[in-house]
Amino acid sequence: MKFKKALLAMVGALSLLLSGCAGYGGIKLDSVGDEGTVTYLKIALNQTEEHPSYKALEKFGEEIASATDGRYQIEVFPNEQLGSQQEVLQLVKNGAIEMAIVSGTQLENVNLDFRVLNMPTTFTSIEQQIAVLKDSSIVGDLFHSLEETENIAVLGGYTQGSRHVYTTDKKIEKPEDLKGLKIRVQESDMNIRMVELMGGSATPLSYGEVYSALQAGVIDGAENNAVSYNTAKHMEVAKHFANTNHLIGLDYMIMRADLLNAMPEADREVFYQLWNDSMDYHTQLWNEYTQESIDIALAQGSEFNDVDSQAFFDALAPIKDEFLTTDYQLALYDKIRAVADKMEGGK
Ligand code: GCU
Repeated sequence: MKFKKALLAMVGALSLLLSGCAGYGGIKLDSVGDEGTVTYLKIALNQTEEHPSYKALEKFGEEIASATDGRYQIEVFPNEQLGSQQEVLQLVKNGAIEMAIVSGTQLENVNLDFRVLNMPTTFTSIEQQIAVLKDSSIVGDLFHSLEETENIAVLGGYTQGSRHVYTTDKKIEKPEDLKGLKIRVQESDMNIRMVELMGGSATPLSYGEVYSALQAGVIDGAENNAVSYNTAKHMEVAKHFANTNHLIGLDYMIMRADLLNAMPEADREVFYQLWNDSMDYHTQLWNEYTQESIDIALAQGSEFNDVDSQAFFDALAPIKDEFLTTDYQLALYDKIRAVADKMEGGK
């Protein structure tokens, strides 16, 4: 913990010193990709080494190195070593680190249009989500939208799978059961509202703070996927897991836009292509590890229960009108739903 804080303070101080100074990060932008030049890229992740995202990122790094004859070398820093997602977003923006995995909520706070992809009811399966992420005719503009103003490029994403509610003391079966319970949410207005609509009292906290908040009784529960419930050890302190399935969440791979755009075009294409492959590999690991996580939690005494799904679905219905307010957002939603409906129909 001490080490993490010290490292964070160091990276933070450096980024402050050099913010706005294009080319920082030990990387000279005018020679990126040149023969004989090795570009070192740090990826920040808030998950442990067991998590599918860490494993998929390690593989992505190996594939990038091999496809570019070692001209790009990637190192993944797990466990929030480089900071919380809110912090690493700023560090990528400043050029102090090159890449990070951040949740959709973090990008929502920068551009409200990202809400569309992170809203309950937008997706009903991981397959739909990945198909949309790969379709630049749908998400291309959105993914480039932060490059000039924020120095943030979005390469694509990883699924967070289905998110559910878990609690320390009370079994949850219907929205009324959440009344008066403090449920941790990710830090965004839409996430706060989501839990309120589901009947709970929303407490925004960063991911790394959830375990101790559950343990200390500061919160009564949280909402996340079965994988994080296991890898972040929330299962040790919140034994009731209700299959609310209220959101198929989404993480993004963000990268310094100045760096990505300074690369030779062929290298940039390699990054996009290998990221697309990485999304598939991650999804495969995800599906396997979700079941494994449930098994691990069951073996350690967690109880999983089904809920009144229709009641939660109805409770969440107003979220769309409340949060999608512009023509662009509504049109994006319709385009996504058209893909999703087609996939559902084709099943
Ligand atoms: C998931 C997701 C993370 C996110 C976390 C959270 O684990 O993959 O990116 O930070 O949820 O709830 O904060």
